[in-house]
Amino acid sequence: MTEPRAATAAGESLAELTGELNAWIEIDLARLEANVAAVRRWVGPGIELIAVVKANAYGHGTAAVAPALERYGVERFAVFSVPEGVQLRQLGIRRPVLVLGHAFPRQAAEAVAHDLTLTVDEPALAEALAAAARARGRKARVHIKVDTGLHRFGLAPEEAVALAEQLRAMPDLEVEGLWTHMANADEPDDSFSEEQQARFEAVACRLDWVPYRHAANSATAIRRASLRYHGVRTGIGLFGVVPPNTPDPGVRPVLSLRARLVRIAEVSPGEGVSYGLTWRARRHSRVGLVPVGYGDGWPRSLSNCGEVLVRGRRVPVVGRICMDQFLVDVTDVPGAAPGDEVVLIGEQEGERIGAEDVAELAGTIAWDILASLQARIPRIAHRAGVVEAVVGAL
Ligand SMILES: Cc1ncc(COP(=O)(O)O)c(C=O)c1O
Repeated sequence: MTEPRAATAAGESLAELTGELNAWIEIDLARLEANVAAVRRWVGPGIELIAVVKANAYGHGTAAVAPALERYGVERFAVFSVPEGVQLRQLGIRRPVLVLGHAFPRQAAEAVAHDLTLTVDEPALAEALAAAARARGRKARVHIKVDTGLHRFGLAPEEAVALAEQLRAMPDLEVEGLWTHMANADEPDDSFSEEQQARFEAVACRLDWVPYRHAANSATAIRRASLRYHGVRTGIGLFGVVPPNTPDPGVRPVLSLRARLVRIAEVSPGEGVSYGLTWRARRHSRVGLVPVGYGDGWPRSLSNCGEVLVRGRRVPVVGRICMDQFLVDVTDVPGAAPGDEVVLIGEQEGERIGAEDVAELAGTIAWDILASLQARIPRIAHRAGVVEAVVGAL
């Protein structure tokens, strides 16, 4: 959703635009471009970058980042579902779009109409795609996923070979790709990837007529050169978050989540704050109100344990996170006042809170923190503080 206000925002300064916003997400396009270059350098020449932009581009806002990623040269896109693929086409994305998740035969016509590449897991879907392709006088490109040990989506090796051969005989289909996904990509010990690689290559060997193979997410792409094949499916790495147990290819976070302090309450010793009064002041305290809550995707599990930055200092979340707001103790931040910028994820005056830090406190992973960020927070894409695009209502 692009509001009228947003349509006029391009070229404005970020500082002016955000001066009177409760909460917003900044997307640093210069960093996104640099990350594409860094990942490309790391994986080496001749290997395509398949930008994984499912789940609203990991919370970054598909509309805010996908067109930019195409401009920065990624060769392909991957999404989870047919509607996510359609959204990319509606945004004007022209590069190949692969659907990684399950699709039903009823979705075949739409997939063909938008030139999406589906991962086919059963003959009924293949037949529906072939019929839709025939009706349009074109071929539908498909990929087949081999389950090499994650036991999530895909076909067991024998089934994958059988289905691929069946699809090869269908003139309206082109079996373009064969892929798999690692179970332990960012574990301290990722050696199970070798077992998965052996299973995958045994299938690939029997299907040597399939031209395109891919197996690596960000961590695998960075850690295991032999699994890069023709392309790497990088999500988190392009967004500048280094997966656990993985070397840094030289990327920096693209997203920051910011808000304004909207009220400071003076709280006397013994008084409690927020629902359930689970935090009580031990001294005379100044408690700042941050207009972000679990309804925005800010985890409720950060109640009484999260941290944010105010005036370059880390301050603790006090009391429970509510649907739309939460409180922080700013007693030790001299001069803290309504209107101050609050950084929930990102950098401020030399201090930094990464999505991975938030994840650790919330008992989850950075992917979850980012992908949970809701559409009601506007995304503002900028380069060096000059706004390029706004997605969402301001
Ligand atoms: C099948 C598949 N490939 C690639 C990715 C990208 O992973 P990452 O964000 O770790 O690069 C994902 C992410 O969940 C995925 O499910």
